[in-house]
Formats: sequence, structure tokens, C-alpha cells
Amino acid sequence: MKKLSLLPMAVLIGLLFFQGTQKPEVVPDPVFHAMAPDMPADVKAVVEQKCYGCHNANSKNEKGKAKLDWDAFEATKKSKQMATKGKIAEVLEKGDMPPAKFLENKPEGKLSEAELATLMQWSSGKKKSAN
Ligand code: HEC
Repeated sequence: MKKLSLLPMAVLIGLLFFQGTQKPEVVPDPVFHAMAPDMPADVKAVVEQKCYGCHNANSKNEKGKAKLDWDAFEATKKSKQMATKGKIAEVLEKGDMPPAKFLENKPEGKLSEAELATLMQWSSGKKKSAN
């Protein structure tokens, strides 16, 4: 009887110990907390640097926020995400984003060829989640 009740305790202690010694997961970027978890890291990185500033829930850029809010992206239905991706592919194809006006003052905000390719592949659905 006594032995039996000790067993769950031992398991519990073992579990606690195991968790305590686990390496911490990669800490998610606090700014980008709400982004789709299945978004490839390289896509995320580009968005964060080149798009997120205007397109987030607290953006002062009201127009940009209204059109696209990355913070809300994850929470939206897959079908809506697909539509958003379509829009993204569209603006990228036309070279509309980041806006030309903005780039006049901040040329470093322009997407590099590689960044553009990464976003294009993702938004057009050619790039699957795992990268
Ligand atoms: C300087 C601020 C700024 C940056 C940086 C920026 N955007 Fe925008 N974005 C806007 C604004 C403002 C609008 C609304 C334009 C309009 O309504 O005419 C917009 C609209 C959009 C739209 C909606 C287009 C439509 O017609 O529905 C998409 C998609 C978009 N942006 C994607 C992006 C992507 C992808 C990036 C990064 C490569 C990006 N934006 C970077 C300000 C920005």
C-alpha cells in the first residue's frame, strides 16, 4: 500500500525535475507575439523589419492598420488569411509596399530582392510552413 502511493509522487518529482532541466524554448519575440505560429521564420523576420511598423494593432498609421493588422492575422480564419496573403502578393507584385512616399524618407525600408522573393513565395502559397 505504501509503495503504491509513493509511485505517483516519484513520477511527479521526476517530471518536475525533467521540466526544470529542459532547455528553454526560443523566446518568442514580444513584439510579434500574435503572429501565426506556422509562419516561416524568414518571412516573419522580413515582415517584422519592413511591414510591421505600419501594420500592427497599435499603429499610428490608421490607413495601414485598417488595411492590414499583423497582430490580428493569426486569429483570423484560414480563409481570411488566404485572402490577406492574396492582397499581399498583389501589392508586392506591383511594388506598392512599403509605400513609395515612405521610402523617399527611409530608403533603407525598401525590400531587398531576397526579402521580396521570400514574401512573394509565402504570400502566393508556394512556401509551406516548415522552412
Ligand atoms: C510606412 C508605412 C507602411 C509600411 C512600412 C508598409 N505599409 Fe502596407 N500599407 C500602408 C498604408 C498607408 C496602406 C493603405 C494604402 C491605401 O489605402 O491606399 C497599406 C496597405 C497595405 C495592404 C492592403 C492593400 C489593399 O489594397 O488592400 C497590404 C496587403 C499591405 N499594405 C502590405 C504591406 C507589406 C507586405 C509591407 C511590407 C513589405 C507593408 N505593407 C509595409 C502603409 C505601410
